[in-house]
Amino acid sequence: MGETVGHERRVFSGVQPTGNLHLGNYLGAVKRFVEMQEQDVQTLYCVVDLHAITMPYDPRALRHATRELTAAFLACGLDPAKSILFNQSQVPAHAELTWLFNCVARIGWLNRMTQFKDKAGKNREAASVGIYAYPVLMAADILVYKATHVPVGEDQKQHLELARDIASKFNLDFGAPDFFPLPEPMIEGAATRVMSLRDGTKKMSKSDPSDLSRINLTDDADAIAQKIRKAQTDPEPLPSEEEGLEGRPGAANLVAIYAALADMPKAAVLAEFGGQPFSAFKPALAELAVAKVAPIAGRMREHLADPAHIDAVLADGAERAEAIAAPVARDAYEIAGLLRTRR
Ligand code: TRP
Repeated sequence: MGETVGHERRVFSGVQPTGNLHLGNYLGAVKRFVEMQEQDVQTLYCVVDLHAITMPYDPRALRHATRELTAAFLACGLDPAKSILFNQSQVPAHAELTWLFNCVARIGWLNRMTQFKDKAGKNREAASVGIYAYPVLMAADILVYKATHVPVGEDQKQHLELARDIASKFNLDFGAPDFFPLPEPMIEGAATRVMSLRDGTKKMSKSDPSDLSRINLTDDADAIAQKIRKAQTDPEPLPSEEEGLEGRPGAANLVAIYAALADMPKAAVLAEFGGQPFSAFKPALAELAVAKVAPIAGRMREHLADPAHIDAVLADGAERAEAIAAPVARDAYEIAGLLRTRR
């Protein structure tokens, strides 16, 4: 990780509790979150429930999704002894800093956000103000911890740039150079981008109408094996070199999934399976995927059977998060001229 002058390295990332956590979320995000716990950095991982309410939703479903995502985090190996795991709404400093940032960010900046255009759809007038201000809340999530490194998907790169713009403008406008560090995105590599099992040119997505397109972290062994059996490929055998995957998105995806699950380079997978037909490769991949994913589903179920424990993990995480965030929000308010006389 590169240096961010004058600031300790601190990793922050967030995932929305919107259900259907799948292999793409695991390999592209959560697996990396777990690996970063072992490095010499502080790690904070947040269930961003305040982001989830920017789109139409059901309160009961949200409550469940928040616990389910927390259970998935734990089942994938995020460890409350190594990371701060919490949900956003329990730490009021996120919302406090968002208001300040709403007054720092410019409408023109938000108008350029491509994700808002996608999410708001055709009837932009009917979209919530929250979905418009979404990237400002995201900037507050990161900067309220003075986080320096943010693992995110490619689709969040623009939001990270906005967070940097907000941090710079705050520091400049209020004459507080270096108050907020400029957070660095850690963009997921193409190697960990998992594509749809039905169409290797589209990202694996929780909103794909076909459940066969993704492996859910809650799928059992039979479902996982069946989805891999039906996954899109082509009639050619596997190539022995990576160049041979060009123009073969379905094949490339399955090889990438195998490599990521087995923690080995794609070249090594091809060295092993090159020349073999998919009828030989798919069962090997299915066996590997079942071995890696089914235990996660099992552990998730165990956690979900004990919601009081999940709530206790979140309460503890929120307390530790708050201890960092509240003083930063207070300092930012004071720098911005807002009197805070209660200690
Ligand atoms: N917008 C992110 C996503 O959809 C989730 C998120 C919210 C986030 N706040 C964040 C990610 C802060 C990184 C840092 O993927």
